[in-house]
Amino acid sequence: MIASATEEYPLYTPRPLWSEQNPEDWWQGAVKAVRRALSASNVSAADIAGIGLTGQMHGLVLLDEAGEVLRPAILWNDQRTGPQCEQITAWAGGLKKTVELTGNAVLPGFTAPKVVWVRENEPAVYDRVRHILLPKDYIRYRLTGEYASEVSDASGTSLFDVGNRRWSPTMAGLLEVPMGWLPEVAESHIVTGEVTAAAAALTGLKEGTPVVGGGGDQAAQAVGSGIVRPGIVSVTSGTSGVVFAHADSYAPEPEGRLHVFCHAVDGAWHAMGVMLSAGGAFRWLRDAAAGEDKAAAAAQGRDVYDLLTEQAAAVPPGSEGLLFLPYLTGERCPYPDPNARGAFVGLTLRHGKGHLVRSVLEGVSYGLRDSLELIKGLGVPIEQVRASGGGAKSPLWRQIQADVFGAELVLINVTEGAAMGAALLAGVAPNPEAAAIYERSYPLYRNLYPALKPTFDALA
Ligand code: XUL
Repeated sequence: MIASATEEYPLYTPRPLWSEQNPEDWWQGAVKAVRRALSASNVSAADIAGIGLTGQMHGLVLLDEAGEVLRPAILWNDQRTGPQCEQITAWAGGLKKTVELTGNAVLPGFTAPKVVWVRENEPAVYDRVRHILLPKDYIRYRLTGEYASEVSDASGTSLFDVGNRRWSPTMAGLLEVPMGWLPEVAESHIVTGEVTAAAAALTGLKEGTPVVGGGGDQAAQAVGSGIVRPGIVSVTSGTSGVVFAHADSYAPEPEGRLHVFCHAVDGAWHAMGVMLSAGGAFRWLRDAAAGEDKAAAAAQGRDVYDLLTEQAAAVPPGSEGLLFLPYLTGERCPYPDPNARGAFVGLTLRHGKGHLVRSVLEGVSYGLRDSLELIKGLGVPIEQVRASGGGAKSPLWRQIQADVFGAELVLINVTEGAAMGAALLAGVAPNPEAAAIYERSYPLYRNLYPALKPTFDALA
C-alpha cells in the first residue's frame, strides 16, 4: 500500500426505512480522494497501470438520455419495496422460478424492485429513464464515459442470469425494462474503458488509464481476504454481517435463503449470507443502554465497547438463558423479511447489563451461524473462517463466534480495506465447553423467529 484517502458523504432517510444518497456526492468524494491519494504518494499518474472499482452493491442510479442523474440513488439497505418484490416473484411464476432465472429470491435491497417502485410512484421520473447503473458503475461512467458493469455486482439486481453470467432477457421482459437500459457486463478483470480527458483534469489521473470491471464490495473484499478457493469462508461484521464462501460451480440455494452471485474470480461463484444488523446491533445497545459507560469511557480515555465487553465477559456462555434476536432493521438471511424485529427473550431479575451485552454478541453470532449452516447445506466445504470488520476487533466476540460456529476462526488484517489483501495475524480455536453450551442454545434461538413471525407481521 503506497497511499490511501477516504471521503465521507451524507446518507438521506426521507422516510423511515428509506435510504438514499446523491451519486454526485460519490463522484465528488471519489475525485477528492483520488487527488489526495495521488498527492500523498510520490507516484506519477503516468505510472498507474490500471484502476479497479468497488462499492456498495444493489443501489439504483437512474440516468436520462444525456446521462444526467434523475433522482437520488435508492440504496442496498432501503426497505420500501416489499410489495414490489412480491409482484416480481409472482410475475416470474413464484419463488422457485425466480431462483431458476436469477439464482436468488427477489429482496427489497436488490435493484429490480426499486425500478418497479419508481415506475409506480414517480412516473414522471420513470418516463425519462434511459440508463440503469449500480453505484460504482456510476463512478465508472464519470471516469470513462462508458455504461458498463461486471458480473459480481450485476448478480445483485434480480435482472441477471447468475448461472450463465449475463443479463436475463426473461427478467427484463417481465419487468418491461428495455435491455438497452442495462449496461454492458464484463468479467471483473476485463478493461471496460479508459479515463477521459475531462476526468483526468478533475482527478489528476492520466487520460487513457484503463479501468477494469472491478467488483461489488463483498466480492472485492473477498478477493482481498483470499476467499478465492473452496474451503475458506469469511465473516465480516461491520454494521451488517456477511458470511462469504467461494464456490467453483454454480449451486443456488433452492429457497433463495442465501445469495448466490458471480464471484469477481473469473468463472467462479460465491454463496453469501447477509445479516442486516451485526455490529449495528451492538452499536444500538451502546446508544440505547450504555450512557453511563460512555461517560466512564470518556473519563478514563477508553473505548466504550471495551467497557461493555468486559461486563459481558463476566457472564457465562449462554447468558444464563437470555436470547437475543438481531433483526433490528428487518432481515435478509436466512429470513428475507422486512417485518422481522429484534427481541430479548428469557429475561429474568437475574439478568443485568452484562447479560444484555453478551446475549447481543451471542445472538448476532447465531445469526451468522444460520448463514454458515445454509452454505454447508449447498455442499460448500468450510475449513477455516476468516474474521474481519469492526466486530472482529473484540477478542471476546471472536471467541464467542469461534464457539458458536464450532470452527477455527482466523483474524485477518483488512483495516486498509478490500484492496489491501490479507495478512494473517492470529488464530482463535473454539473452547469445547462453551461450544457445547452454544450447541444446546442454538436450537432454542432457531425456534424464536418462526414463533414470533405472526407477531412481527401484526406489529408491522
Ligand atoms: C451485499 C450488500 C452490502 C452492500 C453495502 O449484498 O448488500 O455489502 O453492498 O455494503
